[in-house]
Amino acid sequence: MSTRSEGPLRGRVALVTGGSRGVGRGIVLRLASDGAAVAVNYRRDADAAADVVREIQTRGGIARAYGAAIGDDEAVRSMVAQIRADLGGVSIVVSNAGSASRGRTVTDTGLDEYRSLLDVHALGPIALVQELMPDLRSADRSDVVMISSATVTSTPARSAPYTMAKAAMETCMLTIAREERANGVRANIVAPGLVETEMGRRLVSAATAGGSMTDLQAASPFGRVCTPADVAGVVAFLVSQDASYLTGQRVMVDGGGPDVSIF
Ligand SMILES: NC(=O)c1ccc[n+]([C@@H]2O[C@H](COP(=O)([O-])OP(=O)(O)OC[C@H]3O[C@@H](n4cnc5c(N)ncnc54)[C@H](OP(=O)(O)O)[C@@H]3O)[C@@H](O)[C@H]2O)c1
Repeated sequence: MSTRSEGPLRGRVALVTGGSRGVGRGIVLRLASDGAAVAVNYRRDADAAADVVREIQTRGGIARAYGAAIGDDEAVRSMVAQIRADLGGVSIVVSNAGSASRGRTVTDTGLDEYRSLLDVHALGPIALVQELMPDLRSADRSDVVMISSATVTSTPARSAPYTMAKAAMETCMLTIAREERANGVRANIVAPGLVETEMGRRLVSAATAGGSMTDLQAASPFGRVCTPADVAGVVAFLVSQDASYLTGQRVMVDGGGPDVSIF
């Protein structure tokens, strides 16, 4: 892993929400490897966040952990102030934190669940972007990347609160792309299919009555399930100089779509 002074993202500060585990952890490691100083946001699992920070620091990179639940606007405000004080202005924000629906039909899902998923996947990330906008606008180059989901395209049964909330944020991202390009801010969406993480494993178990991720590997595109590193590679491209003329795009990271979908 290279250090901040070596990589293509040297001098940039990145915030990755839900960066302690799963897809977010993969993104944190990749952006740090490309030279960014990384703020690792988490909600509860402070040990997991501390682990990834230690891994980056051991390799000579710059990272710090920040606890704050996306959706808790006061906690998010204090986190942003602390990151500014510790690392400087953020010029890369990856909105990745999230959780899945409980798997009920539209009819059987209480409105509280819709509200809660909208808070985590749409309203919370909007509040975060609002808070960071002064930093993003004042940087020479800045990027907002949202980790969405292929479910916005496939609209599977029993996941409406999750899919609706992701769709709402996708629409907001495309609007931000138009509104903020005059200020140098790029806004893009990355929409993975199934990814090998704790959330992915839970989804597979629920959809296949106790089946495991291992059972799906051979039948998946390219003979394997997508990994956090696959998603991180696309994020790294989007925030790189090679993508500086790119905004308002949605990239699906699903190997071209599964032959047999669990979603
Ligand atoms: N896995 C998949 O198959 C898949 C497919 C498509 C899209 N995605 C999307 O990819 C993103 C990451 O998913 P994942 O699979 O990596 O999930 P995961 O393994 O369950 O990890 C979730 C991460 O998000 C954090 N988090 C959850 N709610 C949060 C909140 N309100 N505020 C701050 N952090 C929060 C968790 O922190 P704590 O541990 O501290 O709670 C953890 O770091 C999500 O947006 C998900 O919708 C996943």
